[in-house]
Amino acid sequence: MPKITYISVDGDEQTVEATDGISLMQTALDEGIDAIVGNCGGEMMCATCHVYVDEAWTEKVGPPSEDESEMLEDTASPRKPNSRLSCQIKASDELDGIVVHTPEEQY
Ligand code: FES
Repeated sequence: MPKITYISVDGDEQTVEATDGISLMQTALDEGIDAIVGNCGGEMMCATCHVYVDEAWTEKVGPPSEDESEMLEDTASPRKPNSRLSCQIKASDELDGIVVHTPEEQY
C-alpha cells in the first residue's frame, strides 16, 4: 500500500497508508486530515483540496491538466509552481512515499 505524508503549515507530519487508485484528497478525508476539505467530492469544482507537492516529488507527479490549472487560480492560499489539487492525484505504487504540504487555508 502506498504511503502518503501530509505536512501541515505548523510542520506536523502525518503518514498514512493509501489505497491504490484513491485520490490524495479522499485519503486525507478518510484519515481525518483537517487541512484538506474536498468540498466538491473530487469534481474539480472547489479547490479546497489544494496541496503543495514536495519539491522532491513534483517531477514524478507531473503538472496539472488545463482544467485543474484553471481551478488552481481560485485557491484560498497562494498558488505556487508546485500547487496541485489533491483530488487529481491518485495514490499508486509509483508515488509510494510522496510528501505533500497542506496550505494555510482552503477557504
Ligand atoms: S475536491 Fe474539489 S477540487 Fe478537489
